[in-house]
Amino acid sequence: MVLETDVQSWLISQNSSYRDIKNKKPKRKASTIAVTSGKGGVGKTTISLKMSKVLSKMGYRVLLIDCDYNLSNTVVKLGIPVNNNFFKYINKEKSLDDCIYKDGNFHLISGCNGSLDLFNCSVKLENSILEILGQKESCYDYILLDCPAGISKENLIINAYCDYRIVVVVPDKSSITDSYSLIKILSLNHGIHSNHLLLNKITSKKQYNKIVKSLGDTVQNFIDCRLNILGGIPSEKNSTELFEEIIFNTEKTKLHEKFCNVIKKFTDEASRTPCDLGRQNFF
Ligand SMILES: Nc1ncnc2c1ncn2[C@@H]1O[C@H](COP(=O)(O)OP(=O)(O)OP(=O)(O)O)[C@@H](O)[C@H]1O
Ligand SMILES: [Mg+2]
Repeated sequence: MVLETDVQSWLISQNSSYRDIKNKKPKRKASTIAVTSGKGGVGKTTISLKMSKVLSKMGYRVLLIDCDYNLSNTVVKLGIPVNNNFFKYINKEKSLDDCIYKDGNFHLISGCNGSLDLFNCSVKLENSILEILGQKESCYDYILLDCPAGISKENLIINAYCDYRIVVVVPDKSSITDSYSLIKILSLNHGIHSNHLLLNKITSKKQYNKIVKSLGDTVQNFIDCRLNILGGIPSEKNSTELFEEIIFNTEKTKLHEKFCNVIKKFTDEASRTPCDLGRQNFF
């Protein structure tokens, strides 16, 4: 399969600076956002899906790519049938367009779920993702990547390629430590010095302020990086089933409002020309 020129040159220039990489990207393209964390179970998939849905309702053309290739949770959370399309794309049995689930402006490339074929295949899946980005960057306003947990080299390459990284942290020492490790390696190995921080499962304002200050100060003082604070999402007490029903299907809730605030902050910051459809009446 032929790589788009900009992605190809990005792969070749893996060791060059972030600025060089950015200069090689085309001018008119989607903003790419990695939703990432280091630690698992902090809410990356929930947040990627909610952000994608809200942005698409605002009129933006949104593609969500599930990068948890063989433990794909996006389809599960949306209640749509699991499928092996990602492997079929990798194996050249299906075109990319035939593997995209479409619901209005919201498009999804899901992964597989425990596919032995995908597990045993020798393709470097991070390259496949970069290839997909190269093909699709000019077709969308935002492309979100729901990243797997962990700081594997493959995961970090995807994180580093994106224009933005939303680092999701929950109030738990290991989540804070793991996010710092992720930010540190991205900085030292990939020249990424700026990330966004989104706190999830917050139970009080005091707790939120404490984490923002301690992580922000540590990142600034020890590795000279910047954390752009997006805000906090409260911890919901409902059962997982009810929580996910509310978050994905209801708009008249405090939780939805919180997400809208986070997204507004993000889109206001992101220096790009938006697609205006439906924006005014959303907030
Ligand atoms: N703000 C919240 N309040 C309560 N529960 C939440 C909140 N955010 C996420 N959850 C729940 O936390 C669990 C983990 O969420 P999710 O699957 O989105 O995490 P993840 O970071 O994608 O996990 P993984 O690393 O395994 O991919 C889910 O059951 C989800 O419903
Ligand atoms: Mg997930």
